[in-house]
Amino acid sequence: MPEQQDKMTVKHGDISQRVGVEVIQNRGVDVAKLIKMLIANAGAEFASTYYYYTILRMHLAGHEDYKEICEDARLEDRAHWELIVPRIYELGGELPNDLKAFHDGAGCAAAKLPDPPTAVNILTLLLESERCAIRSWQAVCDITFGKDPRTYDMAARILNEEIEHEAWFIELLGWERDKKSIPSGHFRRGEPGEAPYSKNRAFYIGS
Ligand SMILES: [Fe+2]
Ligand SMILES: [Fe+2]
Repeated sequence: MPEQQDKMTVKHGDISQRVGVEVIQNRGVDVAKLIKMLIANAGAEFASTYYYYTILRMHLAGHEDYKEICEDARLEDRAHWELIVPRIYELGGELPNDLKAFHDGAGCAAAKLPDPPTAVNILTLLLESERCAIRSWQAVCDITFGKDPRTYDMAARILNEEIEHEAWFIELLGWERDKKSIPSGHFRRGEPGEAPYSKNRAFYIGS
């Protein structure tokens, strides 16, 4: 807003408030709501997926290609957790000092090992977890677009990878369940957990 002067309520030397919060509030971001969403999404990344994908991966033995893709999604979800947590604190929020409360407040259902733990059941669970992640990060993009470029940039990077994860699991489930070819358009990462968007490697100019 070039003509409009920002409201400046943070006083000189005041460390109890943040200009980084004030400027996005001035543009209409409900910061308390945003912090709540980010904590719920962090819970989904760390607890609902990263933790439970570890167990799901163990049960894909005999399907080494599926196992590797599951590992890729698992490590990228951990990267999403790592990326977003500092932003919660920058905005003046904090993680619950209780892991159970954090888990219970997650924005997506826990990806618990299905019964029976067949490849089709595990892939279906992975697919639906990724779909929840897409919806959750899209919602963060929606409330920050044009107002909070820093959170928007992080959420959009994560969203890029969640959309790829959905495509991976559609491809694998299509084959495993129906012997149907539904290409994801992607090939394996260089190493599992590459996270080309959220770890910023695509833009990294060093070696
Ligand atoms: Fe994720
Ligand atoms: Fe994911």
